[in-house]
Amino acid sequence: MITIPEGLTVRRPNAEDHARVLAVLDRWWGDFKGQAGSLERALLLPRLFFQHFTTTSYLAERPDGDLAAFLIGFFSQSDPNVAYIHFVGVEPAMHGRGVATALYRGFFDEARACGRRHVHCITSPGNTVSYAFHVRLGFQVLPGAVGAGNPPIQPDYDGPGLDRVVFTLDLAGP
Ligand SMILES: CC(C)(COP(=O)(O)OP(=O)(O)OC[C@H]1O[C@@H](n2cnc3c(N)ncnc32)[C@H](O)[C@@H]1OP(=O)(O)O)[C@@H](O)C(=O)NCCC(=O)NCCS
Repeated sequence: MITIPEGLTVRRPNAEDHARVLAVLDRWWGDFKGQAGSLERALLLPRLFFQHFTTTSYLAERPDGDLAAFLIGFFSQSDPNVAYIHFVGVEPAMHGRGVATALYRGFFDEARACGRRHVHCITSPGNTVSYAFHVRLGFQVLPGAVGAGNPPIQPDYDGPGLDRVVFTLDLAGP
């Protein structure tokens, strides 16, 4: 399904993986944004993603079965041209080895095969690694973003005080 480095195996997640993924979020995100960030992350990954979005999501495990990475994505119900990557994380010890790139490329291939033209996703302002990662993969910040800073943000995008950087990638591009 996906060619992934480091001898990892990739499969679809299921409901039994929900607790395992929640358990690593704070460590994998380096406690980004403290307690508020912890709550926000947990609420971004309710169980339903491990029940109803499994066929467009991935979970990578090490040979010993430990969790190495996950990608939660889906194909838009509303726009048949769009696929959406909701949440992705890689075990910190495996950062910088192409694991997330492999999961994204696998998702891109499946999205393309299902007739999707664009991939959308968002990240939090201040998550500079996530920003660099998405730009490196060819994502562009959605036109209309405001703010003179780098990265440009969309204020209150996800609700009051919940600013976001909004990305889009054209799967037909280079
Ligand atoms: C963002 C994240 C998923 C990247 O995963 P990864 O497997 O380390 O990424 P890759 O090895 O595939 O990196 C691909 C490119 O992204 C960029 N990148 C990755 N980590 C980077 C870093 N720490 N600083 C700058 N650029 C970085 C590089 O350009 C890299 O390409 P290169 O190695 O050829 O230069 C990972 O850092 C992570 O899990 N972070 C915590 C969770 C998170 O922020 N998730 C995303 C928001 S939902």
